[in-house]
Amino acid sequence: MSTTEPQHGVSTGVLTAMYDAAKALQLYPIENEIVGRSLTELQSRVTEIFEREGGLAVWVAGNYMFVNDIQVRLDLADYAALSALREALRSHGIGRIEFLPRVRTDDWVAFLTGLTSATRPGIQPLEAFQARLSDAGVHRIVVGPSTALFSGGEDSDGIEAARRTYAYSVQVARETMNGLVLGKAVGAQRAERAVLRVVDQVLKDRSTMMGMLTLRDYDDHSLIHAVNVAILSVALGQHLGFGKQQLFELGFAALFHDIGKVLIPTSVLNKQAFLTDEEWRLVSQHPDFGLLIMFDMEGFEDPPYRAMLSIYEHHMGAHLNGYPRVIRRRRQGLFARIIAITEAYDAAISNHGRQFSPCSPDEAIRQLLHNDGNLYDGVLARAFTTMMGVYPVATVTILDTGELGVVVAPSSNPNALSRPLVRIVATREGKRIGDGPIRDLTEVDPATGHFVRSIARSANPQRYGINVSDFVA
Ligand SMILES: [Fe+2]
Ligand SMILES: [Fe+2]
Repeated sequence: MSTTEPQHGVSTGVLTAMYDAAKALQLYPIENEIVGRSLTELQSRVTEIFEREGGLAVWVAGNYMFVNDIQVRLDLADYAALSALREALRSHGIGRIEFLPRVRTDDWVAFLTGLTSATRPGIQPLEAFQARLSDAGVHRIVVGPSTALFSGGEDSDGIEAARRTYAYSVQVARETMNGLVLGKAVGAQRAERAVLRVVDQVLKDRSTMMGMLTLRDYDDHSLIHAVNVAILSVALGQHLGFGKQQLFELGFAALFHDIGKVLIPTSVLNKQAFLTDEEWRLVSQHPDFGLLIMFDMEGFEDPPYRAMLSIYEHHMGAHLNGYPRVIRRRRQGLFARIIAITEAYDAAISNHGRQFSPCSPDEAIRQLLHNDGNLYDGVLARAFTTMMGVYPVATVTILDTGELGVVVAPSSNPNALSRPLVRIVATREGKRIGDGPIRDLTEVDPATGHFVRSIARSANPQRYGINVSDFVA
């Protein structure tokens, strides 16, 4: 059962209904039938949300919109309407709208006509809009300024929350692993709470959570790996439209996918040289060990069967040529196929595999895409790429303007995978900027019709002395 699955549809629905009504009011007199119909549609969408969720609040932050704290995905069908609505809100300086219960049609008319009317130069647009609403007697629609999510410097709230969630998850993973090593009974509740926090944080602001993958403040790379794979898996699950319950199960499986390694001596796990056959046999048993450990974890209402299965299957390979070996043909489960991809990505961008130096995020994406389909599920690998963008969050990029930037969020336009939001960290003259402005690479210069900035190539942060986590985590 999933209560949140249709959430995206409902959120998009209410926003497009707002746009349609605003458009109708702009084109036709108020008594026109089309206006009436669009307002009725809007009212019914709003009532639906009130009934489901008890309230309605819309936020705009950078290129993103949120309905009741959940980021609205812009898909191609709604992209034009939603980005027009976003721009209209922005032009009036509106970042937040709170709709109180029993919003009336008159309120909507005043609000929406205000939205489509031009702002007057020299007058603070948000104050003018607020005055306009109060003149019209509208008290059930309250507008406020933008949250500072993308305005640099003041965005610490979201980042702080993401950092706390990350730290909590690392701590819980550490306690669980230490407890298991000592043979103690380990309860599941704290771990479940950590996973729920990861799910909430990813749903709230995926890009900020992605930035946390660059944190290297923790000594134990197996903990970082566990938490990173949980974040990436939940994010991919969200991208695939999973409901909250499924995201929770997937996140739980991902956090503990390598838990079986606690039964393998660290001397073997950390060995720099090639493993002997005997050592390899031991390491390749970690999926079996993980499954057994899950049976022993206490405090579940029901054993987490789906997580257990995916822990067992995560190295099986999409074509079953991994381990454990299968005797009868079967299909590697969906969660295991997801975890196989996210854990390969995390391993590629991290220093974990001590034999190799880490890849840049965009290089890791390319490698995943060009896997011959033997190791990973090709459809899921492509979905992962669409979600991450060609240049994932934290990629250091050299722009065609000569500026240096760090990717902070993928483009909200699904057609612009190689045009993310980038924080400028050095000018074309090479001068470092501490907390530089965020630029949207889909921005077009109206004079020339060309993009203002494009990515020329990605760069190795070490070469430029950049600590990426300073900018995204
Ligand atoms: Fe593993
Ligand atoms: Fe792993």
